[in-house]
Amino acid sequence: MGNVDLFYRFNADVLSVKREGNRIVLDVRDHRPIGFTVAVASHGDAIEALSGDGATLSSLDGMAAAAGDPAAASRAIRHYLERFAFGRLLAWQLADGEGPLGTVAAFAARYQPRWGEPPAGDQQLCRFAYVRRADGEAVLESGNVRSRVHLNGRGLSMLAALLAAPAPAPPASFAAGLWQLGFLETCAAVEPEARRCWEFQDLLMHEASRNNRDAVAVGGTYRFDGVFASPPAVKPAMPGSRIGLDEVDPGRIRQASSSVDEVQARRRSVRRYAAEPVSRASIGEFLWRVCRTTGYIESSRQDIISRPYPAGGSINELEFYLAVRRCSGLDPAVYHYDSHGHALVRLAGSERIAGKIVERSGTAMGLAEGDQKPDVTVVIASRLPRLAWKYEGMAYRASLMNAGVVFHLMYMVATDMGLAPCANGTGDSRLLQEVAGLDRFEETAIAEFALGMPGAG
Ligand SMILES: Cc1cc2nc3c(=O)[nH]c(=O)nc-3n(C[C@H](O)[C@H](O)[C@H](O)COP(=O)(O)O)c2cc1C
Repeated sequence: MGNVDLFYRFNADVLSVKREGNRIVLDVRDHRPIGFTVAVASHGDAIEALSGDGATLSSLDGMAAAAGDPAAASRAIRHYLERFAFGRLLAWQLADGEGPLGTVAAFAARYQPRWGEPPAGDQQLCRFAYVRRADGEAVLESGNVRSRVHLNGRGLSMLAALLAAPAPAPPASFAAGLWQLGFLETCAAVEPEARRCWEFQDLLMHEASRNNRDAVAVGGTYRFDGVFASPPAVKPAMPGSRIGLDEVDPGRIRQASSSVDEVQARRRSVRRYAAEPVSRASIGEFLWRVCRTTGYIESSRQDIISRPYPAGGSINELEFYLAVRRCSGLDPAVYHYDSHGHALVRLAGSERIAGKIVERSGTAMGLAEGDQKPDVTVVIASRLPRLAWKYEGMAYRASLMNAGVVFHLMYMVATDMGLAPCANGTGDSRLLQEVAGLDRFEETAIAEFALGMPGAG
């Protein structure tokens, strides 16, 4: 097999490279020109070689060393590569004698391939790496690498061979190139304990939803504005029988409430339940205090609402459902909480699934078969497209953060009311999807919270 080399070059943001003697000026898109003077003319020759198709690191070193002192030339070239990487001005290409195999774009400033050669022994694709289609091309990415390789058909075949059978990565091989780019790891290497704890999806979501990749938009970009309308703040009424909840008297709550400090000191997760069930009035007050709608702002762009808890962008993508096992005044069933009208909508034929949702809560809470199960599980669902319509790259993160905020308020209100609260870290989104007939891309359950009356012990 022929040599595969990694070529270094300026990326498309470098519009021109001008040279006068030892003075070099880079014209950079959306930036003032970057000028600098090299100490030795041959170093400037190597830098000039970064325009066009670029050059391998060893040929850059060779060019820079034309005037003598290869060690100094190599140091100078690495210094300039570091500076250019700092400004995200570089791109790379993997190519063999037949032509390109893939091009590499940096996601973040400072990203650079490793300069050395892979260690001896078999190399394999890093467990954080994956291939997908993006912008109409096949790309190799990884939660652990701040660059992306756009692979062509030949590059993909080479990657497939490597994926099927780990192999040594001799210098000037496709595997060596991918190792230098950060996508391969040594099969025999022992992964540090802290890194072992990070699963593929955890690292990818973390890396992609923070501002760790400055070439990737993360934040309120409104990318669908003008493309299609945001789902409305008020979810269209769900089909089912409507049950109005009692009006809540804020004055009475204010009188009866303990101080925040006292509630906080008393707050505990409670997993033992009393013989008597929670009442419809208590559940109604709980929902009113946690998640009723307190304000609505119409906007030509995206309408927003307020609730008692803070929410990213005030978009309030969360919806609340009750899975009732037992409750005085409410039949066992799944109900949607109409946060705008303080009412419940009973979903038809939902009794069996209500029981399953509560059972599932009991499992999350480690309850034994004979233990009394929670009376009610509140299911928090996310209408993610509402949030993603504004927030790019971080919508799911933001929705989970919002659910965490809701958990805390649920704990505080339940404690103040003398109810038994317990958050659930695991749950099955399919149960709500099935019973409510949800399109999981439109709305999906992301968290559950168990409630009941506290029992002894
Ligand atoms: C995000 C989150 C998820 C949780 N998941 C569970 C769970 O699945 N099962 C459970 O029994 N408790 C769960 N809890 C409750 C914690 O176990 C509890 O808060 C912790 O042990 C501290 O006890 P305390 O709440 O009584 O202070 C969860 C709490 C939070 C905040």
